[in-house]
Order: sequence, then structure tokens, then C-alpha cells
Amino acid sequence: MQPFSQRSHRDFTPNALARALGSARAKGVCLLDLTSGNPTEQGLGFSSEALSAVLEHPELAFYAPSPFGLYSARACFSDDLRRFGLSVQPEQIMLTASTSEAYAMLFKLLCDPGDAVLVPSPSYPLLEVLAALENVSLIPYTIAYDGEWHIDPESLRRANAASLGRARAIVTVHPNNPTGSFLKRHELSLLAALNLPIISDEVFADYALDNTRKHAASALGAAQHNLVFRLSGLSKSLLLPQLKLAFTAIAGPPELVRSACERLEHIADAYLSPSNVAQLALPRLLNERELVQRDVLARVRNNRDTLTRGLANSAASVLRIEGGWYAIVVLPAVKSDEAWCLALLRERKLVVQPGYFFDLPGTQVVLSLITRESVFAEGVAQLRDALQGL
Ligand SMILES: Cc1ncc(COP(=O)(O)O)c(C=O)c1O
Repeated sequence: MQPFSQRSHRDFTPNALARALGSARAKGVCLLDLTSGNPTEQGLGFSSEALSAVLEHPELAFYAPSPFGLYSARACFSDDLRRFGLSVQPEQIMLTASTSEAYAMLFKLLCDPGDAVLVPSPSYPLLEVLAALENVSLIPYTIAYDGEWHIDPESLRRANAASLGRARAIVTVHPNNPTGSFLKRHELSLLAALNLPIISDEVFADYALDNTRKHAASALGAAQHNLVFRLSGLSKSLLLPQLKLAFTAIAGPPELVRSACERLEHIADAYLSPSNVAQLALPRLLNERELVQRDVLARVRNNRDTLTRGLANSAASVLRIEGGWYAIVVLPAVKSDEAWCLALLRERKLVVQPGYFFDLPGTQVVLSLITRESVFAEGVAQLRDALQGL
């Protein structure tokens, strides 16, 4: 028997797509990769000169540990939240190295081993890994598409019932990855009615493409009665995944918030993970927010338009995108999503993600809209060609 925990167990065998991709890369095949969500690979965000200049700070040589991070940085995030009409005091803001780490801390705060968390499906695949590493199980509730994405209220009720009282929180991703759908105001009420703490991943909140009238500003809107944790961070909002800084805004009934903060401080104190480099630079980094986000939004819109135009009158269709960085394309059901991905890779040197990674039903593939425009346009042309050859 191996001396390892159950929670670190995974099937580490690469799947057919990973094997085919590995072999193409090993042979040096030039690929049209439409899957990267890493802005630093796609020529977006800060130049290295601009970043080096901004990161210099006279207080860098000094360190005073603080479980929730530097007060000055928490105050910056508190101010920044006002853009969404949200008011959360710096005392109720916890800094972590990443949103992933914030999930881990919240699962530690809210769940004992064997407890469950309700999560949207389709959604962000890493949730499953993060939960498994904390011995937490996930129970999906469905988001369904009928020209627009909606939470299925019946599936929400069923998911809660299926937890047999072990559900300790509900996760929402606003806007969701990869569906790009924002939580609508009435949907937030549905979540709030479950009387569970809400963990709201709002890392893509700055990237709305459409009219936002029906959207909730944030799940923090449910904080009058529910404990709400709003997650965001620099990896998406400032295109700086390498700086490792994220924040969780904690709101809700005051007594619950006080206890949550006390316990989270205890958890965070064991790690003290966010770097002072990013925290000290935060005011200057945030000054550039509009500039860097403007470039991303322009690219996402251009690529969305290229995709919609390129696949018009084809056998594929593009689902509506309200925000975020991804597009979902429904392909003809003549083969599975994985078989499509393998065929596109083999025959067109085109890399797209199969929908099953995200629990998307049917034959759907996911494309990153932050891909460089020239690569994206060539990829769409190849996809269109492949569809014509059917
Ligand atoms: C919905 C969602 N949440 C969180 C993250 C990761 O954020 P972080 O880099 O802060 O861990 C991602 C990354 O793609 C994401 O898609």
C-alpha cells in the first residue's frame, strides 16, 4: 500500500487529448492554440518595464506579519469595491495569494470532512480539485441555456435536498466560467433563500460585454441575511496572475461576520501567504486598471465578433456571451466533443477545449477570447473549413 492520503489521489494518466497534444508539441508542430486563459502569454497587461517600475517600494525591506494582509492594501480593495456600489470595510477583507487559496480557506472555515458544497454546473473545473483537497464533496445545481443561461430552480432544490443536511455553502461564479453568464437579481434571491453561506467567485466581474440591467451587482447584495464571501484577485482584474494577490470581502449579519473573520484570521495566520511586493504596489497597480482592462475588453469583443461572423450560416453555433473571457461553440453531434477536439488537432492543428471539462452537456467546445486576434481569426477559419468538410 502506498503511504499517501486519499485526497491526494488522482488518476494521473493523461487522457487521449493530452497525449495527442503532448506528442504534437514534442514534434514541434505549430499549433493554433485557442485555449490559453493566461494573459501574460497573450501579450496583454503590464510590460515588464512598467511592472518593475511599479513594484519598487521603500517599505519592501520591512515585514510585520498580519493574518489578513496589509491594512493599506485591504483599504485599497475596499475603495475599489465602491465601483460596484459595494461597501465593505477593510477589516472585513482577507488577502490571499490566489482565489484558489481563498476557496481552500473558506472550505476549511465552513466544512468538516464529508460535508458538501453546492456548485453550479457547468462551471470552473478547478472547483472539484479544490474541494477534494479539503475532503469536501460537491453537489451540482444546473445552469441551463435557452438563448440565455439560467439557474434551474428545481435543480437547486434537488441539490440541496440531496445533501441530506450536509450542505455548508453554495458557490456562484459571477460571471460564470465558461458560460459567461452573470447571476441575475432574482437568481441571487433563489440562492439566498437556501440560508447557506454564499461563496461568490467574481474574478471576471470587470468583464461585462452586454447590457447589465438584469444582473446582480454582486452576491454581496444578499448580505443582509446571508454570510457572503466575494472572491476576486489580480490574476484577472489586473492580468497579473504572477503577482499572487487575491481578496475575499466578507459581509453578512454582523455577529456572523465577526466570528467568520476571527476564525479566518486564525486560518490565515497559519500561512501568511500573500506577498508584500504586490500589496505595497497595489495603489499604483490599480491606477492602471482601466487601461489594461480596456485592452482585454477590446480583444474579447473583437474575437467574439470574429467567431460569430466566421461561424454564421455554418453547422455550428455560438452561445450568447454576457461577459468573461470564454466562448462556447456547439458543434454538430456527429461525434463527441473529445473526438471533435482530437480531429481538429490532428487535421487542422487547432486546439480547443472539450465541453466535458466544464460539465457542458452535448457536443460543445470552449475557446479563449483573450487569444491573440491573428491566431484566433486563423483558428476560426480552420474551424469553419472543418465544418464545411462534413
Ligand atoms: C472562475 C475562476 N475563478 C478563479 C480563478 C483563479 O483565480 P486565481 O488565479 O486568483 O486563483 C479562475 C482562473 O481561471 C477562474 O476561471
